[in-house]
Amino acid sequence: MSDISELEVSRRGLLAGSAATAVVAATPAAAAPSSQTKAAPMMPVSFAVNGKRETLSLDPRTTLLDALREHLHLTGTKKGCDHGQCGACTVMVDGVRINSCLSLAVMHEGDKITTIEGLGTPDKLHPMQAAFIKHDGYQCGYCTPGQICSAVAVLDEIKRGIPSHVQDDLTAKPRATNIEMRERMSGNICRCGAYSNIAEAMADVAGENV
Ligand code: FES
Ligand code: FES
Repeated sequence: MSDISELEVSRRGLLAGSAATAVVAATPAAAAPSSQTKAAPMMPVSFAVNGKRETLSLDPRTTLLDALREHLHLTGTKKGCDHGQCGACTVMVDGVRINSCLSLAVMHEGDKITTIEGLGTPDKLHPMQAAFIKHDGYQCGYCTPGQICSAVAVLDEIKRGIPSHVQDDLTAKPRATNIEMRERMSGNICRCGAYSNIAEAMADVAGENV
C-alpha cells in the first residue's frame, strides 16, 4: 500500500471517530428524563405598583421587569437588553430609578413602585410626558417609557442636591444644565438618537435654558 492510501485511511478514521465522539457526548443530556426536573419553589411578594397593592407568588428568579410585564401585564416598561445596558426597563422604586431587569421581584417586599403607567394618563399627562411630546423627545418610542421615568427621577436627584460625575464642585448645588442631564441620562440609550430633544424636554420641565 502506498503512503497516500495509508494517509487517506487514517484521515477517514479520524473523521469517523470525531463524529462518533460528538454523538456520544450529545446523547446523554438529550435523553435525560424530564420527570427528574424539579419545579422551583414559589415565593410570595407584595408591593404597591402605581398606588395599587399587588400580591404575587413568583419563582424567586423572576426579575421585577418580568413581574411587571408578564404577571401584572404592565407592558409600558420595556425590555431592551435584559442585562442592565439600555435603560428601557427603568422604573422608580420609592422614588429612586432602577433598571428593573437587574432586580429580583422578591427583593421588593413592601416597596412603592412607579412605572410609566403610574406617571400620567392620556387625559392627564405628567409634565415630563407633555414635554417629551412638545419637544419631539422620541421617534420609535421604544426607549421612551424608560427615558421619561429616568428623566423624572433625574430632576428629583438634582433637586435633592445629589452630585454627578460632571460637577466641578461636588459640594455645590447641582443645576439642570444640558451637560448635567446628558451625564445623568447616559444609562438610557436611544437607538433613534433623540438625545438633544430629550434634554430640551427635561430643561423645559426644570425651567432651565439649555
Ligand atoms: S432591559 Fe434593563 S437595562 Fe436594558
Ligand atoms: S425613540 Fe426609538 S429608541 Fe429612543
